[in-house]
Amino acid sequence: MTRSDNRSLVLVSRPAGLVGDENFEMRVTPAPEPSDGEVLIAVTWLSFDPTQRGWLLPGGTYKAPLELGEVMQAYAVGQVVESKNERYRPGMHVQGMLSWQDWHISDGKELTIVPEGVEPRAMLGVYGTTGLTAYFGLTDVGQPVAGETVVVSGAAGATGSVVGQIARILGCRTIGVAGGAEKCAWLVDRAGFDAAIDYKSERVGSRLDELAPGGVDVFFDNVGGETLNAVLKRIRRHARIVLCGSISSGYVPGSLPSGPSNYFNLCLRSSRMQGFLLGDYRDRFEEGRKAMREWVEAGQIVYEEDVREGLENAPLTLRRLFEGANLGKQLLKVADPPLGS
Ligand SMILES: NC(=O)c1ccc[n+]([C@@H]2O[C@H](COP(=O)([O-])OP(=O)(O)OC[C@H]3O[C@@H](n4cnc5c(N)ncnc54)[C@H](OP(=O)(O)O)[C@@H]3O)[C@@H](O)[C@H]2O)c1
Repeated sequence: MTRSDNRSLVLVSRPAGLVGDENFEMRVTPAPEPSDGEVLIAVTWLSFDPTQRGWLLPGGTYKAPLELGEVMQAYAVGQVVESKNERYRPGMHVQGMLSWQDWHISDGKELTIVPEGVEPRAMLGVYGTTGLTAYFGLTDVGQPVAGETVVVSGAAGATGSVVGQIARILGCRTIGVAGGAEKCAWLVDRAGFDAAIDYKSERVGSRLDELAPGGVDVFFDNVGGETLNAVLKRIRRHARIVLCGSISSGYVPGSLPSGPSNYFNLCLRSSRMQGFLLGDYRDRFEEGRKAMREWVEAGQIVYEEDVREGLENAPLTLRRLFEGANLGKQLLKVADPPLGS
């Protein structure tokens, strides 16, 4: 096959607020060649994750920041087109930390081979970062027990929508908090949540008083800010608050707010609040994928994908997460697999 040139999106300025096209420049260079031990991957699907905004912060977050002049990194899937690494052969679909470009060279160390029977792009959502974050964050940190009330913020997003469905499977009562009537209707009608609160048109606290008069046992928080504070006011004894994300901050420089004023309820109600990073569970990813696959194949978990197209649209696709434009997992198709599916 003839290899097209490599288009790559390079960081040229750090965004102060929302990510924009002006922060990246498209550069075109010849397609790279793999060296011994490496594989050449044609990037087919990009995942969009709020954490990518954090990688653009000058000081970094849990990992070093992307430097100006570097190609943007991304969880992605692609097809191996040339391999000088014995673990991989041309035609295989692989998932891992790739980048916003057509062709990615990898040493193969952190790649996952897409299992037989799995749609490659599902390795970015329900079997990828967001599905696994939901699984480990809820079961390991939240530890819900049948009969308990579980509240999820960012509930119509990739992570939150799976959290609520796992909680339902485990026998809990589930309440989702999301932005807009359409998302709330999807949560109840399609994802099987018991109730949904539209934080854009309703007061989260007073709606929780109606929907969960006995209080909240587990809160899986993707959002932080006012929603977190409203739930903290309504926790039951021995509640578990799972700190997964704080997207209401926008993950912009200096954005993290001071602590929630209702935090002392954690003491008064003998409760705990615990953060986690998905990477903490790296050794257990196979367990998570197996559980997710059984639930999805049994029809117990449904998921949505919000699909954009075209590498050049990557910056504005990342921005969609912070505008609440996505329902379910935000993806972008870069290309069809060059060696066929
Ligand atoms: N701890 C970890 O290891 C880990 C791993 C993966 C993800 N996360 C975190 O999990 C959360 C969800 O990530 P995701 O990939 O599944 O994204 P997502 O939920 O699919 O998309 C982000 C959603 O956040 C909501 N949002 C955006 N701005 C908001 C604001 N100002 N206030 C309230 N809600 C807002 C929007 O939904 P609405 O329309 O409902 O506002 C948007 O659709 C993020 O906080 C992310 O950082 C953490």
